Amino acid sequence: MDTATTSHILSSAVQLASRRTVCISNGKGGVGKTTVTTNLAALLAGAGYKVLVVDLDSQGDTSTNLGIINDERYDRGEALDIAVRYNKVPLPIKDVRPGLDVLAGGNHTAQLMDTFQGDASRQGKMRGGVARTLAKIAPDYDIVLIDTPPSEAGWTAIEEAMLASRWILAPVKPEPKSIRGLESLARRIVSVQNDNPAVALLGVILFGIPTNARNVDKQARSLLKESLDGIAPVFEGSIRDVVAADADASFRGLAAHELAARAATQSPFWERLRNKGKGSDEPRIAQSAGNLAEDYMRLTEQIVHELQAQEEALDQSLEVAVK
Ligand SMILES: Nc1ncnc2c1ncn2[C@@H]1O[C@H](COP(=O)(O)OP(=O)(O)O)[C@@H](O)[C@H]1O
Ligand SMILES: [Mg+2]
Repeated sequence: MDTATTSHILSSAVQLASRRTVCISNGKGGVGKTTVTTNLAALLAGAGYKVLVVDLDSQGDTSTNLGIINDERYDRGEALDIAVRYNKVPLPIKDVRPGLDVLAGGNHTAQLMDTFQGDASRQGKMRGGVARTLAKIAPDYDIVLIDTPPSEAGWTAIEEAMLASRWILAPVKPEPKSIRGLESLARRIVSVQNDNPAVALLGVILFGIPTNARNVDKQARSLLKESLDGIAPVFEGSIRDVVAADADASFRGLAAHELAARAATQSPFWERLRNKGKGSDEPRIAQSAGNLAEDYMRLTEQIVHELQAQEEALDQSLEVAVK
């Protein structure tokens, strides 16, 4: 069980329903939010978890990464839009992988966020609408992952995601500017806690570490530890900067481990050379696919571990409170 404190806009039932909802956010663009979301989702679903991905970014990049952007079921965010506006149960795209459902993002998401913004300047009654809507289906899943847009277009979508979440995962690039960006995220978390007291940072993910530059990882870690001041861990597993494998994955709509599995079945270089022009071999997959897959597997394991440790600690503190 989780704590559910009084909130003006979220009932305790809504807060309880979001106990396994994690938003991936940072405020900044290009720090790996979407790629982390989709890889985590695909790996967890592969491990037998029932997973829902919710895309609050109108660019719809989670659908590209998961290979459903050209699927006839891709709805440009309409399912979530309708559910929030009319207080209905949202209908995700089912089983984009076994056990993985998606509430996609697209131009309907942009319209929904515009409506939220307009409402905020009037009565603000819609605030928490994404939380209340997702609460209708979150208990059907072992984990819900919400991908968020960068804050350039405003903080509305990020705040709605944080109101709907128990945990926040923040990917950062190993650069001082990106690390300092965490401070504005921290301020937002504190302000959202007025309405969703339980939301907290689960951990920080280092994303885009140059290969063969271990000192970059080390320097970034020490700067991060200083600025986090013990409030959340920096995961040991970081994600390497491997442009070729990433491009291969997103062009094919595959997660890194799926790409690595496909790479393992491709014919060897000499055979392809011999058969050049014959047959329709797909373009060769980058060697680094395996490294990227390893990074995500390691990271996912650590995230699950941290989530479980936090949940156990909460259960114990509740038991103490009851005694
Ligand atoms: N491991 C990686 N190495 C290099 N580039 C990557 C890697 N993973 C993702 N990218 C690329 O980096 C860019 C930002 O990633 P993305 O996940 O879209 O970030 P965000 O959602 O924070 O904007 C994208 O162009 C993506 O294709
Ligand atoms: Mg993104």
